[in-house]
Amino acid sequence: MKYPGALITFEGLDGCGKTTQLELQAERLRTQGRAIMVTREPGGTAVGRQIREIVLSPASGRLAPATELALMFAARAQHIEEVIRPALQAGSIVLCDRFTDSTVAYQGYGRGVPLDDIAALNRILCCGLQPNITLFLDIDAETAAERTNSRNRAALQEQTRFEEEGLELFRRVRHGYHELANREPARIRVVNGMAGIAEVHEAITHVVDEFLDNRLAR
Ligand code: TYD
Repeated sequence: MKYPGALITFEGLDGCGKTTQLELQAERLRTQGRAIMVTREPGGTAVGRQIREIVLSPASGRLAPATELALMFAARAQHIEEVIRPALQAGSIVLCDRFTDSTVAYQGYGRGVPLDDIAALNRILCCGLQPNITLFLDIDAETAAERTNSRNRAALQEQTRFEEEGLELFRRVRHGYHELANREPARIRVVNGMAGIAEVHEAITHVVDEFLDNRLAR
């Protein structure tokens, strides 16, 4: 189904800088007078925030991969219904921090859930809603582990369940993102997340503007 708005998602390993970059784009596009909605997963709704607490908190202990998968999709189904679809119907550009590609990368490649099962749940629960453009900010697994460790130390915050697993999980997840990007090169754009903030911003701006210009030309 086509909507008047557009869904642009930001993806990458923990600590890749996507949240800062998403906010910079939101600010830039708002100054152009565009209707922008900023949201994130898991989260974005009251139910989503409660689910986020369950999936990220180390207090949840070892969740079965199927449980983790079901919770991510439960949060997403509510998010689409309550926030994303209405915004797309109203013509907004929705900038979403993580979406279904995170589930494929983390639960699929990271946890070993069969990719066909994820695709089936996506069809059933999320009507297969696909982003128009996805920015994948690529950093290596070592950098992700270092950045999340120092971020948590600085904020006196404990590690999330995903960060606790560190390098090995991040390596599998990164490989997953690359597989996804190879499969869908027109939608998923790889940006070097190791570059400085200004350089990454410029690369993302180029992709976003190209997409918006093409859209207006149609
Ligand atoms: P996020 O808050 O974006 O963390 P960060 O800012 O460190 O990148 O994401 C929270 C965690 O949830 C992150 O480790 C990835 C994980 N996650 C999944 O495993 N599957 C999913 O479908 C989503 C949306 C997130």
